Amino acid sequence: MDLFEAIKNRRSIRAFKQEPISDEVLRKILEAACWAPSAGNLQPWEFVIVKDPIIKKELCRAALNQYFIHEAPVVIVVCANLDRSSRKYGSRGRDLYAICDASAATQNILLAAHALGLGSCWIGAFYDDEVSKVLELPSGVKPIAIVPIGYPDEKPSPPSRLPLERVVHREKYK
Ligand SMILES: Cc1cc2nc3c(=O)[nH]c(=O)nc-3n(C[C@H](O)[C@H](O)[C@H](O)COP(=O)(O)O)c2cc1C
Repeated sequence: MDLFEAIKNRRSIRAFKQEPISDEVLRKILEAACWAPSAGNLQPWEFVIVKDPIIKKELCRAALNQYFIHEAPVVIVVCANLDRSSRKYGSRGRDLYAICDASAATQNILLAAHALGLGSCWIGAFYDDEVSKVLELPSGVKPIAIVPIGYPDEKPSPPSRLPLERVVHREKYK
């Protein structure tokens, strides 16, 4: 798949077939996640794989009842290991780099899933403390994105993007 095509044609998918995802395919997606860039190559990401319907349901509740989390065969919760980044970079590592790095890994997951014929969605609307409790995350590990993945059962049309002229600034912001 051409990279530019993949970037442009990836959509947030919120309806999934019940077809399972093989371990091999899941591994490919996770490997792609780990090839994301990270500050100082610290790789401060942690991935919690959820297939258990009870835990999926609890995640769903923590994420304002976004029911499609429960319908996906696999959910990857991408977390940032804040301690790993702050040990080297202090508050900038904790407050910025760890979040950026986990976000870059998340984008790789979305694109890799798409390249493999799967659909996914970046879910950011959730209560951190509830997700941390459900997944028993240690302190210093912050949930960044809940990513349900499955074979798509919808084909959404592309939402528009702001024109380049509006978001690109030459030399100075004006
Ligand atoms: C940080 C972030 C948080 C998001 N949170 C949610 C969410 O909680 N629920 C949801 O359905 N989609 C969520 N999305 C997906 C966006 O709605 C979606 O990317 C956007 O509408 C553009 O659509 P597209 O991904 O199909 O291009 C989120 C995306 C990002 C990057």
